[in-house]
Amino acid sequence: MARINENYLKLKAGYLFPEIARRVNGFVESNPDAAVIKLGIGDVTEPLPPAIVEAMHAAVDEMASRDSFHGYGPEQGYAFLRDAIAENDYKGRGINIGADEIFVSDGSKCDTGNILDIFGSDNTVAVQDPVYPVYVDTNVMAGHTGPAGDDGRYEGLVYMPCTAENDFTPAIPEQKVDLIYLCYPNNPTGAVASRETLKSWVDYALANESIIFFDAAYEAFITDESIPHSIYEIEGAEKCAIEFRSFSKNAGFTGTRCAFTVVPKALEGKTASGETKPIQPLWNRRHSTKFNGVSYIVQKGAAAAYSAAGREQIGELVRFYLENARLLREGLEKAGITVYGGVNAPYIWLKTPGGLKSWDFFDTLLQKGHLVGTPGSGFGAAGEGYFRLSAFNSRANVEEAVERFQKAIG
Ligand code: MLT
Repeated sequence: MARINENYLKLKAGYLFPEIARRVNGFVESNPDAAVIKLGIGDVTEPLPPAIVEAMHAAVDEMASRDSFHGYGPEQGYAFLRDAIAENDYKGRGINIGADEIFVSDGSKCDTGNILDIFGSDNTVAVQDPVYPVYVDTNVMAGHTGPAGDDGRYEGLVYMPCTAENDFTPAIPEQKVDLIYLCYPNNPTGAVASRETLKSWVDYALANESIIFFDAAYEAFITDESIPHSIYEIEGAEKCAIEFRSFSKNAGFTGTRCAFTVVPKALEGKTASGETKPIQPLWNRRHSTKFNGVSYIVQKGAAAAYSAAGREQIGELVRFYLENARLLREGLEKAGITVYGGVNAPYIWLKTPGGLKSWDFFDTLLQKGHLVGTPGSGFGAAGEGYFRLSAFNSRANVEEAVERFQKAIG
């Protein structure tokens, strides 16, 4: 019989969001009349901006004609998109990242998992706690951890607690770690990292020859001008960081699929014998071997995000979700709930009332308010006693959710 990858057997229960869906489906089956409002998974609800739709329609027409048809594209992404990203997200902001350091993909979830392919299995890995579960689960799958303990934490990973007590900003590890996952604006807490905080991480990484995996999928939601959008705004970061960005949350691409990962040419790692090697060619090799590129039509849509009209429309979309976040935040505060996040991020992170366990609060909210959120403990042990609400929804649903929330916990 074929052997399986037993690391998968170490994984706790289901992946968080399918587990929530399972519970909600169970509830809906026994309460078919309940109009459940879902503020659980951070999935966008508003349609694609018109400039993007127009570009995609034009691309479909190109595909319909022999003269302008496209077969396989470059695995790394078409030059028109890589150039637009380099110019708009980096060079135009004074950051020296070139198009050949940008790798277009179908999602940051995939990239943050796949990146482990090019790193050895004996690295010490640090994650924020609470954490986007993909970082942890993909390390478990890759065999980088031991089993999970009673608190759900896997042996071998370094967990960096982020709680109200430290303003959701983890302390720099005392020991040397090789790979560090940082997500800012943070999923799930909605916290942001100041320039000083990011600089202290870059200084640590340079001093310890570590690499930071910087997930900036929510950078478009930054409203505070002093907060960096990219880790490369910090001097030296091109020598110690890989950045993940996505069109999912700003341009509404969760169902359309387009993202990119920046692997700077200056970034290096070591072989077991201590030889220094550049990382970028390894990712290029991995990407070209295991990935065949994002569709031409989708990349044309993503490129339109950088047109004048596209930028304006995306700005509107982001402001719409941020207004939802404000309504949720203020509505919950009125109900006496302690709320964090939701200012520079589309997530509201709240303390469960009466110190309820996160999953108990999930059940209460579902039963009494027909509302779905995400239990903080699903993101890690330090998320226990917290709860996440997503601002990605229609205005009507958000307003209704605030009312129901106030009634349910009143
Ligand atoms: C979330 O709800 O945390 C996000 O939807 C996850 C993701 O973007 O994959």
